[in-house]
Amino acid sequence: MHSLKNWRNSLRTGKRPGGKHPCRKASFPVQKNVQYILQQMTPDNKPIPMADMNHLTGLSGLSADSITGLLDTAAGFKQTLRSPNASFSPTLKNRRIALVFFENSTRTRFSFEIAARNLGAGTLGFSAASSSVSKGETLSDTIKNLEAMQVDAFVLRHPSSGSAKLISRITPKPVINAGDGSNEHPTQALLDMFTLREHFGSLKGLKVTIIGDVLHSRVARSNIYGLLRAGAEVGLCGPVTLIPPDAEKLGVRLFTDLDRAIAWADTAIVLRLQLERASGTYLPSLEEYSRHYGLTDERLERTGKHLLVLHPGPINREIEISNHVADRIQPPGYSKSMLLEQVTNGIAIRMAVLETLLGGTP
Ligand code: MLT
Repeated sequence: MHSLKNWRNSLRTGKRPGGKHPCRKASFPVQKNVQYILQQMTPDNKPIPMADMNHLTGLSGLSADSITGLLDTAAGFKQTLRSPNASFSPTLKNRRIALVFFENSTRTRFSFEIAARNLGAGTLGFSAASSSVSKGETLSDTIKNLEAMQVDAFVLRHPSSGSAKLISRITPKPVINAGDGSNEHPTQALLDMFTLREHFGSLKGLKVTIIGDVLHSRVARSNIYGLLRAGAEVGLCGPVTLIPPDAEKLGVRLFTDLDRAIAWADTAIVLRLQLERASGTYLPSLEEYSRHYGLTDERLERTGKHLLVLHPGPINREIEISNHVADRIQPPGYSKSMLLEQVTNGIAIRMAVLETLLGGTP
């Protein structure tokens, strides 16, 4: 059993406590999602080249060339976005893109909307609470009905892991996963990789540590697949209860000591503690989590490390990241925050994804 005492011991010794991992216990509320992920934790063997890409349900199935292609396309858009009167050719004119969001979102939803509009497409907003889903309509019926209204593509966010793949099997229209449960969030990982590549020049050999609630994080999973495929090294750091038990199999390094993870890394992706997915039940207390895994100035100063810091947002201030680290856009200091740059890069990445999947197909 992962008792509190074992958990505390594991922090001291760095060893995984004995007994079953909590996500294998039937009583945990996220069990269904997490089990799906454990079955999916090996990237697809035959990665899809960009030319054959019909959907973007995850990065586990993408080839290194497809990833590079998307990052390169985004780099072109970013250049234009930087110019004062940015204007783009309306390559997606007369296309309708449905933003089907069953979970809340600020960054992802707005950025898909801006990306679509930049390319001349129209967007249709959808929220589960005000749709027929509240009357019991199934996800597939909802999608089929939108398809019958000549929607050209679906951007789907859903609390169930695997939902984007499921939908991609029932519609011929492109499906873009905007986050499915704890499974994948491919456009977030692409924008993280874009941000890192822009800063460091290349992803090859880059040491990226992903800190925190890896177990529930779709952002972590997509980043692991994408970064490894692009030649980066990935370290995962967190309490053993929040690291998927089979994670080693992916070829990542595991750390339970944050100082060591920082000493090893060139950059850190800090994850939000997913309290809505019951992450708190895996921890003795938020205060203790923050003490051991919160990224603060004091910790960076102590390890003498200058770190480029990313976070997908939204942030739990002073839990996984301190205000100073989150807000330090301009060094001096031991960290450089990329949080807002990531948001801007999200538009370029989502434009690249929409253009790649929809451009040229009437
Ligand atoms: C997500 O939707 O997964 C976000 O981008 C990250 C988070 O919610 O922690």
